[in-house]
Amino acid sequence: MSILFKKGKIGNLTLKNRFVRSATAELLASDDCRVTDQYINAFSRLAKGGVGLIITGNYYVNNIGRSIPRTIIVDKDEIINDLKRVTAVVHENGGKVIAQINHGGRQCNPEIIKETPVAPSQVRDPVSFVKPREMLEIEIEDTINDFAKAAGRIKKAGFDGVQVHAAHGYLVNQFLSGHTNRRKDKWGGSIDNRMRFLVEIYKEIRLVVGPEFPVLIKINSEDFVSGGLTLNEAVLVCKKLDELGINAIEVSGGTPEKGMVTIRGDIPRDLLMRNRSFFERILIRLFEKSIRKHSLFEEAYFLQQAAIIKKEVTAPIITVGGIRNRAVMEDALNSGKADFISMCRPFIRHPNLVNLMEKNEKNPITCTNCNRCTFEMVAHHNPMKCYKSESPA
Ligand SMILES: Cc1cc2nc3c(=O)[nH]c(=O)nc-3n(C[C@H](O)[C@H](O)[C@H](O)COP(=O)(O)O)c2cc1C
Repeated sequence: MSILFKKGKIGNLTLKNRFVRSATAELLASDDCRVTDQYINAFSRLAKGGVGLIITGNYYVNNIGRSIPRTIIVDKDEIINDLKRVTAVVHENGGKVIAQINHGGRQCNPEIIKETPVAPSQVRDPVSFVKPREMLEIEIEDTINDFAKAAGRIKKAGFDGVQVHAAHGYLVNQFLSGHTNRRKDKWGGSIDNRMRFLVEIYKEIRLVVGPEFPVLIKINSEDFVSGGLTLNEAVLVCKKLDELGINAIEVSGGTPEKGMVTIRGDIPRDLLMRNRSFFERILIRLFEKSIRKHSLFEEAYFLQQAAIIKKEVTAPIITVGGIRNRAVMEDALNSGKADFISMCRPFIRHPNLVNLMEKNEKNPITCTNCNRCTFEMVAHHNPMKCYKSESPA
């Protein structure tokens, strides 16, 4: 049997195979951010499709942490019953599901949150031009609390674990990065100080969910931004979380500041330019070449970084980013570079991907990284689906 179809463990959680559906913002919730039938159907299709673990798209821990609309917010107990429908449909169909929790920080959308986004420091986001407000110490503490309370609701809703989103330029990543965190207090400066926010979030979550509930992290191996989080620093953060008992680490990289480093592939020009002002079109033209240069797709583009982190920790490592080829997946696991294979875009195109792979020796993935799903979601707030013209194989 291929190693891909052997059972794996994350803490006490046994997974039926080594495939993970990486967190994917669905934009399938209602306008008031509640679970809809379309949302349930998406999780039903994924669970029926055989993937060992589904990680939900990011759920916001509070209202001012929101970046995109029609996404679940776990700031009130009334969401627990909605979310029980999600966990029930996945479990009924033999799957496991972990919820990702997030706060967007300076990457929040002021039109959605109706106030100025907050961040560790007042460093303008060059993508959205948002200049955030520096968080007060009390706000930092409240936000840590919001993560912990959100994790408690996730547990009550029957999820199999929780994943803290510490990657992709969102609030936790902003604290980790020396580029976006210029604070002079105990939350900024040395890497020990910059990781304090994440470490406190982890500790508070543990207090709420107890020692057995799986707590995972998705972290940048590197920000690829001048002054941002480096691989050496990411290793230190992972080692610290490992010591504290994190149950798995998903290794990603990049922030939107560098373009499409996280979600590499094509940049669909029509979607990039759609509904842009004259000023924005000029700016896009100026930076287009550099954005394209950094978005060039290569197979398993964060696997080497995952392997470096794996050598330093005991927690299982989940590799994500451009993994498409069955031989590469098997080699990543057999050679001990990673313990789980996580994918996002291929599951948008083929929710039944794992069943297809189990039946077939041939690689069934026909996702070409055209990134129409990415741009429809990020730039135009359209729901998760494959927007490529030909239908999936
Ligand atoms: C439409 C879309 C939505 C995404 N939403 C999230 C998200 O909510 N949280 C997250 O950590 N990553 C998110 N990502 C990033 C993916 O989880 C993954 O890290 C990235 O796409 C690289 O994996 P892939 O090459 O298999 O697509 C999203 C990516 C896409 C294309």
